[in-house]
Amino acid sequence: MSELGRIKVLLSSAEKINREKDIDKLLIILSNLAREILEVERCSLFLLDSSGKELWTKVAHGVDEIRVPSDKGIVGWVAKNGESLIVNDAYSDNRFNPEVDRETGYRTRSILAVPLFNRKGEVLGVFQAVNKRESDFSKEDLELLSLLSGYASSAIENSLLEKKVKEAYREAVMRLSFAAEYKDPETYNHIVRVGLFARLMGEKIGLDREVCENLTISAPMHDVGKIGIPDAIPLKKGKLDDWEWEVMKRHTIIGYEILKNSSSELLQMASLIALDHHERWDGEGYPHGKKGEEISLWGRITAVADVFDALLSKRPYKEAWSVERTVDYMRNLKEKAFDPELIDVFFEHLEEVLQIRERYRDEE
Ligand code: C2E
Ligand code: SIN
Ligand code: SIN
Ligand code: FE
Ligand code: FE
Repeated sequence: MSELGRIKVLLSSAEKINREKDIDKLLIILSNLAREILEVERCSLFLLDSSGKELWTKVAHGVDEIRVPSDKGIVGWVAKNGESLIVNDAYSDNRFNPEVDRETGYRTRSILAVPLFNRKGEVLGVFQAVNKRESDFSKEDLELLSLLSGYASSAIENSLLEKKVKEAYREAVMRLSFAAEYKDPETYNHIVRVGLFARLMGEKIGLDREVCENLTISAPMHDVGKIGIPDAIPLKKGKLDDWEWEVMKRHTIIGYEILKNSSSELLQMASLIALDHHERWDGEGYPHGKKGEEISLWGRITAVADVFDALLSKRPYKEAWSVERTVDYMRNLKEKAFDPELIDVFFEHLEEVLQIRERYRDEE
């Protein structure tokens, strides 16, 4: 390929690379690109696994996943030394590990391998090109693969970082929501289940994936406002008196006040859920007596999820109800308390609902 040809291929891929958010797809795009511009038989992106003992790759043209010990072979050498390597006659290089060829039935002639570094300068993995067509690997090939390795490294690192941040965020939110329910002897699993029921409804009515993800985390925040309610009220063994009930109802507004005015879509959703999760379809709910679609969809979804799980659970003021009793009760309230469409969807998928309940059941 001519110099100009290579530049054209590189530029035409730049947009695709920048747009791609899925890390696996991105690694495939980069490998395909490297194979094309270097004119080689295959390219593989090896990543060090978390133990640091193995390098693995899913992207190896024409071969299934490969795992190699991180201290063996050309790829291992590059990972260990953090230096690039050109080997134009693999079998005459004593660093080459012919075992992989034996396993894959492949015949390696030449190898170009470049290390991937993270921001701290530690080796993340190795980008390898195998079997240059027509000629030997050149210094120019090395420069091109190094360039692509830079792309690959930052994409991989960003994606790992994003995953970590998301997980930590998600867990913090779940734990804080649980803290609010802590005074209720409710379980951590109760809020997990409410989130998963809400996600299920979202999926079944065809909401976007990201919205459903957000529902999984924000529905569990529905009762954060209980933080502002004296413990004695939710913990009371019997029925609440009028004054206690007036105080209890304020947990919706308190939750809304805590969560509102955030620029985060997730927290905006959560604030509406806190506010609306005790509103009723017929307008007889609280705190505002909103009716029908005046109630946010997130609030309507969470109402179904929360009441279902509350009825099936033991509370200081009530015994656990059976599934039949719960379903009957809620079906009777269809159009009174709940969005009728959501009730239908929810009970249409009762089997999946009960699987979630089983998987996250409360310990005895
Ligand atoms: P929660 O215990 O999380 O209950 C959530 C919702 O599930 C309730 O909202 C209600 O719609 C439904 N639910 C739960 N248990 C029962 C029940 O035994 N019968 C019926 N028909 N529905 C039930 P609600 O009523 O707006 O209550 C909000 C929160 O107020 C409850 O959250 C709970 O923390 C507290 N609460 C309500 N009633 C009592 C009570 O009689 N005694 C005590 N100690 N707390 C209560
Ligand atoms: C969690 O433990 O972070 C929640 C689990 C889940 O919602 O899948
Ligand atoms: C209430 O006190 O009005 C709620 C009664 C209940 O469902 O437990
Ligand atoms: Fe509530
Ligand atoms: Fe709840």
